[in-house]
Amino acid sequence: LAPPLLIGFTRSWPILLQAVVSYVTAGWPADQIFVVENTGVQQANARGQLTLQNPFYLNHTILRTLGVNIIQTPTLLTFAQLQNFYLSLTYTKNWPYYFWSHMDVLTLSYEDGNEHTPKYSDKGYKPIYTLALEALQKARRDPRWGTRWFSYDHLALVNPLAYEDVGGWDTMIPYYITDCDMHARLAMRNWTMLDAKAAIITDVSTTIDDLLALYRVDGIEAKFTDPNPPPPGKDGAVVARRGDEKDDDENLRRWRKLQKTADTMFHYKHGDRGRNTWQLGQHGGQDEPFYYNSAGFAEAIEVTTESGREVFRRKWGHRDCDLREGAGLEFGDQWMVEKDF
Ligand SMILES: *[C@@H]1O[C@H](CO)[C@@H](O)[C@H](O)[C@H]1NC(C)=O
Ligand SMILES: *[C@@H]1O[C@H](CO)[C@@H](O)[C@H](O)[C@H]1NC(C)=O
Repeated sequence: LAPPLLIGFTRSWPILLQAVVSYVTAGWPADQIFVVENTGVQQANARGQLTLQNPFYLNHTILRTLGVNIIQTPTLLTFAQLQNFYLSLTYTKNWPYYFWSHMDVLTLSYEDGNEHTPKYSDKGYKPIYTLALEALQKARRDPRWGTRWFSYDHLALVNPLAYEDVGGWDTMIPYYITDCDMHARLAMRNWTMLDAKAAIITDVSTTIDDLLALYRVDGIEAKFTDPNPPPPGKDGAVVARRGDEKDDDENLRRWRKLQKTADTMFHYKHGDRGRNTWQLGQHGGQDEPFYYNSAGFAEAIEVTTESGREVFRRKWGHRDCDLREGAGLEFGDQWMVEKDF
C-alpha cells in the first residue's frame, strides 16, 4: 500500500495549487496526493460558494481535474490538531505510513542529476517519488524510525507507531513550538528523526505567473510576480531572473529556469517582507458562507500561538526548544518540573 502525501490547506489557494502542481509535475502520482481542506468553511468550497478573493477559497473542481484527492476536516483545526488528524487517518484508512508537506512549497525533481540520481534522460533516473519511497525502505530497516525529513521539514515521512508511542501532538500547543515539543518527546523515546534527500523543495510565498511553466509547455517561461506588493516607497522590486545559460538540452534549460525562479522566490520570501505576509494577500469574501475577517484571523492565530508558548513553558519549566540537550529533560518530566527561568 503506497503511503499517501498529505498537504494541509487553510488559506491562499494560488500557493496551494502551485504546490500540488509542482508535486505532480515532479512525478508524485496525483492519486497518491491528498489535499486536506482545513478551512472551517464546511461545504462552502465543495459547493463552489466562495470567490477567489476569499482567503479560504479552494477550487474542488480544479483539484479533481488534476486527479488529486480532497479530504475535509470537520472543523477548523490548529496545526497540532491537524497533525493528529493525519494520524487519525492512518487508522480509518489503514495507512501504515504517510508523507506530509507544507502547502507553501515548490518542488522540483533532480532532473539535472546529482549524487542521488542520474539526470532525467539517463537510465535509472529517480524522480522525487522513487527517492521518497527508497527513503521509506531504508527507514524501515531501523526499528525505531520516527520521521524522515526532506529539505528541513518541507516534506516529512511519518511512522504512526512513533507518534502513537508519544501520545501524538500536544494540541494545547497549537502552532509554533509545538514541533519542538513533539520532536523532543520523540527523541526522548529514542525514535530516530533523520534527514533524507528526494528533491529540491523550496519554501515560497509567491507563485509562478503561469503554472504551465511547470509542465514545460512551449513558450511559457518561468517567472513570478508578487500578488501582494508592498506599499509604494518600500523596496519591493521583483526580480524575475532570466534563464540565460547556454544549454543544448531544451528540457534542462527549462528545468534550470524553474530552479532559478524557485530560488529567487525563496530569497524573496526570506527577505525584508517577513515570511508570512503571503497569507495576508486575499481579504475578500464578505457575505459569503462562514466569512471570517482575514486580518482578525491572522491576529487570532498570533494570540493562540502565544498561549501555546505559555503552555509549553509551564509544561516543561523551560522556555526554549532545547528540552533535552539544554535542560536535560526526559519524557516523564512533562508537567512535573519546576521552572528553570
Ligand atoms: C473552479 O474552477 C473552474 C475551472 O477553472 C471554474 O469553471 C469554476 O468556476 C471554479 N469554481 C469556483 C467556485 O470558482
Ligand atoms: C533510550 O536509549 C537510552 C540509551 O540507550 C536508554 O537508556 C533508554 O532506556 C531508552 N529509552 C527508551 C524509551 O527506549
